[in-house]
Amino acid sequence: MVGLLLTVIMLLHASSTSYSSSSPSSAVLQTLFQYINDHQNEFVQRLGEWVAVKSDSSNQALWGEVRKSLNMTSDRIQAMGGQVEFAEVGTKQLPNGESVALPPVILAQFKRDPSKPTVCFYGHTDVQPAKKEDGWSTDPYTLTEINGNLYGRGATDNKGPVLAWLHAVETYQGTKQEMPVNIKIIVEGMEEVGSDGLAELIRQRNDSFFSDVDYIVISDNVWVSRHPALTYGTRGSSYFFVEVEGPKLDLHSGVFGGSIQEPMTDLIALLGSLLDNTGKILVPGLNDAVAPLTEEEKKLYEDIHFDLDEMKKTAGVKRFLQDNKEGILMARWRYPSLSIHGIEGAFSDPGSKTVIPRRVIGKFSIRQVPNMEPAVVETQVKKHLEEVFAKQKSPNTLKVTTTVGAKPWMANVNDVPYVAGRKAVKAVFGEEPELIREGSTIPIANNFQEVTGKSTMMLPISGHDDGEHSQNEKISRYNFIEGTKLFAAFFHELAQLQKDS
Ligand SMILES: *[C@@H]1O[C@H](CO)[C@@H](O)[C@H](O)[C@H]1NC(C)=O
Ligand SMILES: *[C@@H]1O[C@H](CO)[C@@H](O)[C@H](O)[C@H]1NC(C)=O
Ligand SMILES: [Zn+2]
Repeated sequence: MVGLLLTVIMLLHASSTSYSSSSPSSAVLQTLFQYINDHQNEFVQRLGEWVAVKSDSSNQALWGEVRKSLNMTSDRIQAMGGQVEFAEVGTKQLPNGESVALPPVILAQFKRDPSKPTVCFYGHTDVQPAKKEDGWSTDPYTLTEINGNLYGRGATDNKGPVLAWLHAVETYQGTKQEMPVNIKIIVEGMEEVGSDGLAELIRQRNDSFFSDVDYIVISDNVWVSRHPALTYGTRGSSYFFVEVEGPKLDLHSGVFGGSIQEPMTDLIALLGSLLDNTGKILVPGLNDAVAPLTEEEKKLYEDIHFDLDEMKKTAGVKRFLQDNKEGILMARWRYPSLSIHGIEGAFSDPGSKTVIPRRVIGKFSIRQVPNMEPAVVETQVKKHLEEVFAKQKSPNTLKVTTTVGAKPWMANVNDVPYVAGRKAVKAVFGEEPELIREGSTIPIANNFQEVTGKSTMMLPISGHDDGEHSQNEKISRYNFIEGTKLFAAFFHELAQLQKDS
C-alpha cells in the first residue's frame, strides 16, 4: 500500500506542469470550466443578440448600429462592475465633403489590485458587409447553429472573441473566485475600415490608460489548422504605384507603332525587373535586412499541421514554389514577398483594340518581415526602378509613389504572456499550441507595441475555416466555448507565472 501511495505521489510530482487532478491549479480551472460548460447556451444566445446588430462600419448609414454594438459591449462590462469610458476619436470626412463624428472607442477597466498583473484586451464589434443574396446559406444577421457551427456575420470576426473574453471574466465572478489579474478592455467599431482615430487615441492615453498595463492581448485572427495556436508575428506591407507617361494622347498602333517608345513597354520592363521565377525579389539590398533563420525558429515549423495537398486543391494550383510544408509556411510568414496587382490605363476589356496607351500605372505591393523598415524598402525600390528605367533610355517620364507602409510585428515566444498562453492551451485542449504567424498585415499589434512599449500578444480562438470577411462566416460552438475557457485559464496562468517569479 505504502509503495503504491509513493508511486502515486511521485507520478503527481512528475506531472506537476500538466495538471494532476488534485493540484490546486487544476481545482480552480475545473471549477471555471464547469461553469462555462453549464452556461454555454446562455453565452451562445448572447452571441446571437450581438450578431443581430448590423454593425457594418463600411456603411456610414449603419454607424448607429455600430454605436449600438458598442453600447451592448459597455452594458455587459458595466453589468460586471466594470467602468466604461466612451472615448471620442474625432470626425471623418465623407466623399461628399460632409464631416461626421466617428463612433467612439470603449476604454474599460475593473477595480484594480496593484499587486496583480494587468492585461488589456483589444477587440472590435464592427463587421464586414453581408447580404443574404451575396451567397449566404442563412441570414447573416441571424446566428444559426448547424452541425456545431454558429453561422453569422461577426461570429468569429470579432464579436465571438470579444464576448468570450467578457464571459471569461464573468466566469470568475459567477464562481465567486477572485480575479487573478487586473483587466482593461479596449473595443472599437471602425476596425474593418482602418481603425480611424485609434492610433492617435493610443498615443494620447499612453501615460494614463496604458501606463499600468503589463500585457496587451489581441484575438482578431485565426488558427492555421484544427489545432490551437498562438500567433507571434505579422508581416508589414507597402504599396507602390509606378507611373510611366509618354505622348499627349492615346495613339494608333498602325500609325505610331514602331516609331515611338511606348509607356507600356517601359512599364513591363520595370515590373519584370522586380522578381524572378523562384519568387525572389530582385531589388538590390532588400533581402539583406531579413532576420536570419535560427535553429529555434526552424523547429517551430516542424510541429505545425498544414495540409499541402488540401492547400493546392483549395487554391487550384499545380505546384507551389516550395515543395514542402516548412518552405511554404516560411515563404508566407518569415520572408518578404512581392505581388503585382494591376496596370491602370492598360486596355483590359475583351476584344482587340489596337491602342497605344499614353500613360500607364503599374501597381504592386511588398509584404515585409523583421527586420525590414518600410522607409528603407521604399528608397531601395525607387532607386532600383530608376536604374532600370535609365537603361531603357526612354523619352517618357517615370514617377514612383507609395502609400504609407505598415511595419511587420514580431513577439518573443518566450515572453511571459506566451508562456502563460501555452500553459492555458495545454490545460484546455490537452496539447501544445502551434506557434504561428500571419502572412497578412494586421497593423494593430505593431501599433500597440511600438507606442506603448508593452508586451503584445495575439491569442486567437477562431478556426482556420471560419471564413472571416466571407459568406457563411462562422465560429464553431467548440471554439467559442473552449476559447472562453482558454481566456479564463490564461488569466490564471499569467497570475501563477507572476507568483512563481
Ligand atoms: C448608446 O448609449 C448612449 C448613452 O450611453 C445613448 O445616448 C445612445 O443613444 C446609444 N446609442 C444607440 C445607438 O443605442
Ligand atoms: C509610452 O509609455 C511607456 C511607459 O509606460 C514608455 O516607455 C513609452 O516610451 C511611451 N511611448 C511614447 C510614444 O511616448
Ligand atoms: Zn477582425
